[in-house]
Amino acid sequence: MPVTTGKYGPLVGAIDEGTSSSRFLIFSAHTREVVGSHQIEIKNTYPQEGWVEQDPKEVLTAVKECINKAVEMLKADDVDPSDIVAVGITNQRETTVVWDAITGEPLHNAIVWLDMRTASTVDAMLKNVPNKSLNYLKPLCGLPISPYFSALKLRWLIDNVPEVQQAIDEKHCCIGTVDTWLIWNLTGGKDGGILITDVTNASRTMLMNIETLQWDPLLCRFFKIPMDLLPEIRSSSEVYGSIAHGVLKGVPISGCLGDQQSALLGQMCLRQGQAKCTYGTGCFLLYNTGTTKVESTHGLITTVAYQMGKKAAPVYALEGSVAVAGAALSWLRDNINLLQNVSDVESLSTQAGSAGDVYFVPAFSGLYAPYWQQDARGVICGITDETTKCHIIRAALEAVCFQIRDVLEAMSKDCGLQLTRLQVDGGMTANNLLMQTQADLVGISVMRPLMAETTALGAAMAAGSAEGIEVWDLNNIQPVPCDIFNPLITEDERDARYSKWKMAVERSFGWET
Ligand code: G3P
Repeated sequence: MPVTTGKYGPLVGAIDEGTSSSRFLIFSAHTREVVGSHQIEIKNTYPQEGWVEQDPKEVLTAVKECINKAVEMLKADDVDPSDIVAVGITNQRETTVVWDAITGEPLHNAIVWLDMRTASTVDAMLKNVPNKSLNYLKPLCGLPISPYFSALKLRWLIDNVPEVQQAIDEKHCCIGTVDTWLIWNLTGGKDGGILITDVTNASRTMLMNIETLQWDPLLCRFFKIPMDLLPEIRSSSEVYGSIAHGVLKGVPISGCLGDQQSALLGQMCLRQGQAKCTYGTGCFLLYNTGTTKVESTHGLITTVAYQMGKKAAPVYALEGSVAVAGAALSWLRDNINLLQNVSDVESLSTQAGSAGDVYFVPAFSGLYAPYWQQDARGVICGITDETTKCHIIRAALEAVCFQIRDVLEAMSKDCGLQLTRLQVDGGMTANNLLMQTQADLVGISVMRPLMAETTALGAAMAAGSAEGIEVWDLNNIQPVPCDIFNPLITEDERDARYSKWKMAVERSFGWET
């Protein structure tokens, strides 16, 4: 591997394709600083209640444009783009894409992870499993049966889109998560693109065996998914192929992880017992359980955290997934008009002084961990004639923190371990009040890295440390420095507020019959 010695040393690019935006960031391998980046918002469409879709071509075009614009930034800074030695990809997980291998055209919009259209299919499936247990397949795949995961979305596409069934019958249907769609296109698309996914993304489909890390025949039979159409499962860090066209033509793609796993890596939670929580559209707490697969009995899921190379042992995590975090604030802005900008949340919540004993459970699409209650719907309770919009906004902010407490409670029951600090990242963490409230409501210190781009950094680290690239040695990287928020309220107050939250959660159950 030739070592480039430009202004910033070797550079590693990271595509970060999230639920609400596509981004490309370029990191210096020496300093881990971002030396160029570009971001484009992605449109979500809601064709029916509970349905969420994206246009796969819009996602791809946005990714390509982000790459072009970030590379232009480099050039404007007198840096030679050929200093970019590798590219990693991190993406919204579970979101499912089907496309035609011959034309390269999507056969339907992508069904986004939040989409609930298969809730009734789940109900029907549960009638046929012993004890109607959501956890029936958990020993095989680590996940409860839920519309959240890709298998159900894929089943819907096969059952409801004739073009998909036809392309399957004629053997030219490609199926995959967003990483697969992007890698196939970037490596040549219909002219030889490679059809792969990585273990972390595959572990979110309900089709991969969590032990063997291969597609599981029983799971594929259960969901009636043709196994031969699924992409090849690869490790999170290896050279998969090279970019076929454009300003980065020839640059290897050598890292791939789901965005939450990527943030775990970017936060350097590489040891068993370390955890991070990422606050975005949803909120995801991942706890590194090392090479041991911990099976949760308290509503968490077992997932692959990363596998750093073909021959490396997989590292697992327990995950607490929360569907609605930042999305509750967007809802207050877009649907209820309580806010002009989400950036006003901190000042309006501060004005309120407290949530005025108002509790807001944003169960818009049911509740994920630890409840897995798809019939739950949002509730706001505790309203009096003193309640103002600022109290409701603050209650939405506190809901994020209470949901994380729910997850931490489940985690300590599963692992018998009490976290002593919580490493955080994601867009919402710029909100200092949220960070302080989180520390107050969980009773441990919250550590926010000064370098905010930990999700993209994780993918860059996977790409930059892959065999044959090796501009990064993960054993020698120090964690990024952090801001620290310590709890300021008493345990009694913390517990009293949490009890009321639990009462509010109870009230959200059973609305969708
Ligand atoms: O599981 C869904 C998750 O990967 C989405 O993350 O950051 O795009 O909301 P984000």
